[in-house]
Amino acid sequence: MKILVTGGAGFIGSFFVRKALSQGYEVCVVDKLTYAGDLRRIEDLLNKIKFYKADITNKEFLEYIFSKEKPQSVIHFAAETHVDRSILDPFLFLRTNIEGTYNLLEISLRFEVNCFLNITTDEVYGEISEGNFTEESPLKPNSPYAVSKASQDLLGRAFSRTYGLPVITVRPSNNYGPWQYPEKLIPVAIAKALLEEPIPLYGDGSNIREWLYVEDCAEAILLILERGKDKEIYNIGSGVEKRNLEVVRSILKVLKKSENLIFFVKDRPGHDYRYSLDSSKAEKELNWRPRFSFEEALEHTIKWYVEHQDWLFEKVGYLKEYWKRVYG
Ligand SMILES: NC(=O)c1ccc[n+]([C@@H]2O[C@H](COP(=O)([O-])OP(=O)(O)OC[C@H]3O[C@@H](n4cnc5c(N)ncnc54)[C@H](O)[C@@H]3O)[C@@H](O)[C@H]2O)c1
Repeated sequence: MKILVTGGAGFIGSFFVRKALSQGYEVCVVDKLTYAGDLRRIEDLLNKIKFYKADITNKEFLEYIFSKEKPQSVIHFAAETHVDRSILDPFLFLRTNIEGTYNLLEISLRFEVNCFLNITTDEVYGEISEGNFTEESPLKPNSPYAVSKASQDLLGRAFSRTYGLPVITVRPSNNYGPWQYPEKLIPVAIAKALLEEPIPLYGDGSNIREWLYVEDCAEAILLILERGKDKEIYNIGSGVEKRNLEVVRSILKVLKKSENLIFFVKDRPGHDYRYSLDSSKAEKELNWRPRFSFEEALEHTIKWYVEHQDWLFEKVGYLKEYWKRVYG
């Protein structure tokens, strides 16, 4: 089967591309290579895939790609993904995540794609202090990022209900693993710890996220492509909930660095306190379970960054000005 993967040079998309190729799929990647995209993530696969450097807001170019490739399925990862950046520049998020998704849905309908996997996020539900979100929970997104992803999510629903495009919606929780851009909590903490610089933590560090290893996420998405039901929504979470402070402490422990590096900064505006997914539907219907424990996957992730410090510190170099804007 030929699949078109948007955002395949990004963090999760690159793991998905690798997995799909290993299962015999023919893969074509569309990625704009923004600051977050990096072809090195899939460098060893470039001779096995078709790669298009393309912006999903450029509809004409997308039409050309679809007419040339005629993909049977679309797996849509491409997005602006960082909440802090959405607070600084919301419009870019609306363009990429809403207009870009609209273009892909509309073209997929015309080209009679068999399956459109719309990758959104647990953040579409907003925060929850107790219990967890099922796929039926109302969407109450809070940040500009989450609102753009909820809009993407609902556009997929509209194309499915109104025009009959076969759409499946996937809502994963917070991912971590090798190759994640060091603006997200885990790689920021690893980079700062290695540099022995203060590790910024919002508020008092008590916010809770559900941590999903990227390999487990990619595997779940492939299973959804193979066994997921049209029109359905699947939450994908690990059940592993941790406070941000706990996560950073674990990283410092593995790296044998002092907890004195932790540095609390003014809380993010509108910061969601806790996300938590009920993923029993994916477990029952797809027989999916995360394979990696948090401890072993975190250790593996830290080891990867230690062994890829050139890549890490190249990115950190670009982030210095940005960090000043965000953390003061
Ligand atoms: N990382 C997480 O914890 C997480 C959790 C839940 C859902 N998600 C969702 O999963 C998807 C992938 O996330 P990620 O962490 O891999 O993101 P990422 O930021 O690492 O990668 C995004 C990719 O999209 C590409 N891109 C951005 N704008 C584009 C455009 N206009 N046209 C074409 N390509 C463009 C970038 O170049 C990059 O390669 C996103 O849709 C995100 O919202 C991520």
